[in-house]
Amino acid sequence: MDHLVSPSLLSADFGNLARDVMLINDSVADWIHCDIMDGLFVPNISFGFPVVKAVKKVARKPLDVHLMIIDPDRYLSRWKDAGADILTVQYEACTHLNRTVNEIRNLGMKAGVAVNPHTPVSLLQNILPYIDMVLIMTVNPGFGGQSFIPESYRKISELRKMIDVGKHDVLIQVDGGVDTRNANELVETGVDVLVAGNTVFSSEDPVETILKLKHF
Ligand code: DX5
Ligand code: ZN
Repeated sequence: MDHLVSPSLLSADFGNLARDVMLINDSVADWIHCDIMDGLFVPNISFGFPVVKAVKKVARKPLDVHLMIIDPDRYLSRWKDAGADILTVQYEACTHLNRTVNEIRNLGMKAGVAVNPHTPVSLLQNILPYIDMVLIMTVNPGFGGQSFIPESYRKISELRKMIDVGKHDVLIQVDGGVDTRNANELVETGVDVLVAGNTVFSSEDPVETILKLKHF
């Protein structure tokens, strides 16, 4: 499978959000990544339902919604209503993860589980049969534009092996510090979905940068 690219709106110009979503529409990007932060799970607040709803109206690609919030169970159906196609919850925020991902799928969304840099991927062994994607955080979540944590390569390889050996139908997504220099090695190590915020939106030509992240 060719890898997918999911530009993160966290680094978009919020005063011109529709324009930036249309820019992603016109690019070779596969999904649109929306980072939801509650000021509790992470030390930052981003945006919520009304913004995702507005994005959905303009978007012509699936919305890949990444919840960096505590107790996500309270809002799963609200994200479906807002337009999420893929809904990812943080492993560290879910006491009953199996129930949570089943509920996400029952609502008609793809279910993802994100792990923070300190969380071993071995902890995911028993959830792999129930999910569609693992998001490996390659920075500490909360902010765009941080540096990639190199130890992540080992986690990606380990998870790739777990998925292949178990013949699971699960994508590996990486999020944080992805750029046009490390994209190739990440995909070679086993990544299926690249998220990139700062790299795309701080570049002179975001459409061209998305192309570089897609074809190398
Ligand atoms: C970080 C978010 C990321 C962020 C990535 O907490 O989950 O999705 O937008 O940003 P960059 O690509 O700028 O590191
Ligand atoms: Zn994210």
